[in-house]
Amino acid sequence: MKLKELESCLQNVDVFESPKLLLEQYPTRPHIAACMLYTIHNTFNDIEGKVVGDLGCGCGVLSIGAAMLGAGFCLGFDIDEDALEIFKTNAEEFELANIDMLQCDICSLPTNCLVKCVDTVIMNPPFGTKHKGMDMIFLRTALQMARSSVYSLHKTSTREHIKKKAAEWKVKIEIIAELRYDLPASYKFHKKKSVDIEVDFIRFSLD
Ligand SMILES: C[S@@+](CC[C@H](N)C(=O)[O-])C[C@H]1O[C@@H](n2cnc3c(N)ncnc32)[C@H](O)[C@@H]1O
Repeated sequence: MKLKELESCLQNVDVFESPKLLLEQYPTRPHIAACMLYTIHNTFNDIEGKVVGDLGCGCGVLSIGAAMLGAGFCLGFDIDEDALEIFKTNAEEFELANIDMLQCDICSLPTNCLVKCVDTVIMNPPFGTKHKGMDMIFLRTALQMARSSVYSLHKTSTREHIKKKAAEWKVKIEIIAELRYDLPASYKFHKKKSVDIEVDFIRFSLD
């Protein structure tokens, strides 16, 4: 499947009806999602035939794209049942059988739960703007769940901190790309509808 074709399919994925700001519910735009998935698939061969986890899956754009690129199985995790309801409808509309979802709070998974249960994690986690440290809780959990690699988006301003943590946790880190990401304004004092922020697309490898 070509990149443009993937992007145009992902434009048909329904997104949050009433996004919950406290859960940092903003969808990954089809262009960014397609570029991420295409790179993970073509450059690193981490999708085809693999078990893929999607933490904070929301309405499922990353899981759906991974399933379309031939993942063996995709499992999305999210705390919000409204988002998962949309995820379910999306998966049905795309007629994807290799996809499922689990409602859970990533912050309160038992420590030994789901260890090394997937090959690859692909995620766009909350950046931690509403709950400080949420991005790092997602990352730590993803690294426990994955056997091989984790792909994630993080604010570029946190890059040095993340590099330090990766060294501490003994995982290899590679900044694949620096993106401009339009984040919906989330405070009343924000005058514009969205703000552009710099975001790193990062690969963590565990092999
Ligand atoms: C930035 S959105 C990304 C949504 C989707 N993955 C996408 O790429 O379009 C972050 C997602 O994390 C979920 N989330 C926030 N806090 C969570 C938690 N503690 N446990 C599980 N999911 C959570 C939100 O409901 C939301 O769907």
